[in-house]
Amino acid sequence: MSFNLTDIISIRDFTKEDVEYILDKAEKMEPIARSEQICHKMDGKLLGVLFYEPSTRTRLSFETAMKRLGGDVVGFSEKQSTSVQKGEVLYDTAQIISQYTDAIVIRHDMEGAARFISDKVDVPVINAGDGAGQHPSQTLLDLYTIKRTLGHLDNLKIAMVGDLKYGRTVHSLVYALAMFNVEMVFIAPEELQMPPEIIEDLNKMNCKFSIKSTLLDNIQDINVLYMTRIQKERFPDQKEYLKVKGQYTIRKSNIEGTDIVVMHPLPRVDEINFDVDELDNAMYFKQAFYGVPVRMAILDSVIKNKKREN
Ligand code: CP
Repeated sequence: MSFNLTDIISIRDFTKEDVEYILDKAEKMEPIARSEQICHKMDGKLLGVLFYEPSTRTRLSFETAMKRLGGDVVGFSEKQSTSVQKGEVLYDTAQIISQYTDAIVIRHDMEGAARFISDKVDVPVINAGDGAGQHPSQTLLDLYTIKRTLGHLDNLKIAMVGDLKYGRTVHSLVYALAMFNVEMVFIAPEELQMPPEIIEDLNKMNCKFSIKSTLLDNIQDINVLYMTRIQKERFPDQKEYLKVKGQYTIRKSNIEGTDIVVMHPLPRVDEINFDVDELDNAMYFKQAFYGVPVRMAILDSVIKNKKREN
């Protein structure tokens, strides 16, 4: 199997074989991620991390991944400490960091930001979330979590709950699940349902999906419950946020005794009660760990396919 992508911008750029390549490689990387093996694959390589929006898991797991592979990291976790404050534009910042590093990971509030810079610089660019757009490395670790937990990805039934309008994790995930013939249930208030253009794409791909507004009566026969946070920061009007806040919460009593795998890209606010953490169904913390081997697999693959000729 080969993998030819040099930038990781959208899961829609992936074939099913590309996805399987990353998942297989991630499994081989797990002993390194667990610190059971030492790796020098990225000795002398530098990753640039440009985080214009807050992050805990994505930034730190990319940094962990690079360091576990023997490489190092430079970058910033908030634009306030950079020359953006003096008026520097994204294009210029990306040009500079691309000359210092061997690959760039970027999170930005503007949809399309990662694609924009990937066309302008000669090192690999990885989209770590662009506004309400895409979050492809999250999708790959979500798929990895499902595969590691249930043994396969094909023909499952997965419910996605919460903010399906602004949630970039679900915007990425649906396209990947479509490759594996997964049946999807979208559970959200009408005003936060999956965007019409994505629904149109799923129809064109002949995907099996349904749209629901209530939680507990629509999850009895599912394999995976993918909870998401209401994205407060993306609401133009905070009054609209308050109307939908706290509408869907899952508790231990709703899940106990079932085989439903509970996932969440995190951070959680009030969607998953803390008592769910006691159950074997709770997979969200392991899911966050799986971000490390998956991001190791991504870095190793794109830096190998690097655009820059040294
Ligand atoms: N899942 C995720 O993107 O988490 P962070 O915002 O903490 O990176």
